Amino acid sequence: MPEMKVLTEFIKSPEQHKIETYRRNGGYEAIRKAIPSISPQALIEMVIAADLRGRGGAGFPTGKKWSFIPKDPALTKYLVCNCDESEPGTFKDRYLTEHDPHQLIEGMILSCYAIGANTAFIYCRGEFYEGIRKLQTAIDEATEAGFLGDKILGTDYSLRIVVHPGAGAYIAGEETALLNSLEGFRATPRLKPPFPAIAGLYRKPTIVNNVETLANVVHIVNRGAEWFQGIGKPQNRGTKIFQVSGQIQRPGCFEFPLGVTLREVLDASGGSLHGREFKACYPGGSSCALLTAKDIDICMDFETLAARGTALGTASIIVMDDSADMVKVATRLMQFYQNESCGKCTPCREGTRWLVQMLQRIENFEGTAADLKTIEDVCVSMAANSFCPFAVGAAPPIVSAMKEFKNEFEAYIQKNPHAHEKQKMRIAYPYN
Ligand SMILES: Cc1cc2nc3c(=O)[nH]c(=O)nc-3n(C[C@H](O)[C@H](O)[C@H](O)COP(=O)(O)O)c2cc1C
Ligand code: SF4
Repeated sequence: MPEMKVLTEFIKSPEQHKIETYRRNGGYEAIRKAIPSISPQALIEMVIAADLRGRGGAGFPTGKKWSFIPKDPALTKYLVCNCDESEPGTFKDRYLTEHDPHQLIEGMILSCYAIGANTAFIYCRGEFYEGIRKLQTAIDEATEAGFLGDKILGTDYSLRIVVHPGAGAYIAGEETALLNSLEGFRATPRLKPPFPAIAGLYRKPTIVNNVETLANVVHIVNRGAEWFQGIGKPQNRGTKIFQVSGQIQRPGCFEFPLGVTLREVLDASGGSLHGREFKACYPGGSSCALLTAKDIDICMDFETLAARGTALGTASIIVMDDSADMVKVATRLMQFYQNESCGKCTPCREGTRWLVQMLQRIENFEGTAADLKTIEDVCVSMAANSFCPFAVGAAPPIVSAMKEFKNEFEAYIQKNPHAHEKQKMRIAYPYN
């Protein structure tokens, strides 16, 4: 299957980030087409008909989410663009905002119009200095050109977009933690329900969508729901920007229809490093189970990957070749989850810490066979009893590494001369 560039068609055009170039390449035509000729409800129905699913990780149907917004025109509503992008291996939103910020702005204008929002926010990862600068300039240019601000293109519709630098934590990308952070509070998740569509930012109806999701709306309006429906597979429509990183020849972003095989994406990125064999990859960022060499022809879509016990997630493929040490990979990833746990609930806060301790013990040739079982038990109870999906995502990368490459974990344990003894409690007494 060849690459299909829709969202990335003009991304390499020189100066695509400037409004003149964007407009020369057909930009802002969707706004003219939709506002006010297409009613907000018809726009929501168009996105439902297109079957666009969210690109932020969970794959929730976008039009359906929009339809949860109360229709009462007297209610203030918000759109929040999630550009926090902290999932390991994920870099498509940064690519889109730094190189084609107007595509996102145009998608946001259309989406705000559909849900009846007059204020929108872009919560952008704080370290994306370049992206924040490009987005602000794009907003200023679009306002100057009449696509943003009061009475857009002489219609009754007005919209303001604010760029907000993120608070520097992975959990701030979880939509309710993001809303807390945007309101000036610590980025910890909120209890759901109520869902943001009913009580979100400042407890007002709010839609949170990912950058890539919103950018897709431009093309659905320009080319129609039927065109979008014609790409990909049932329940997996449209293209997806796959990000390939790790032990690979040409890391980067590659846009394919959903349902492309893993082999085709890896071929586009040049395949394994010279002289090395593909060993495994995390297909959707780090918060999912591994695929291995036997999965090389698997279709990269929401349903197929879920049936295989993993997830499409952010379609960020982290590649490992036969030089990768899976014990070290598991330990390093769990250190990430320990650092990023927001600490609000005990199973996740303590569970991630215990897991790091046990994995380090194995890595230091001090692990026992019992540790493997304890790691699995902690993962299960952490995922089942924690407050938010963070902990659910922290378990599969480790459990799948232990399942698929059990021999590597056992080889470390066999090097411990006391491997079959019961693990002694280690308590540090401060007074002796
Ligand atoms: C720990 C965690 C981190 C997340 N980080 C992001 C992120 O950086 N960007 C994003 O779009 N979604 C992220 N999400 C998913 C969001 O909660 C939310 O589902 C998404 O922004 C919805 O957008 P979509 O419907 O367009 O996919 C994260 C979820 C979790 C649990
Ligand atoms: S699961 Fe982890 S990240 Fe989520 S609320 Fe609990 S401590 Fe915070």
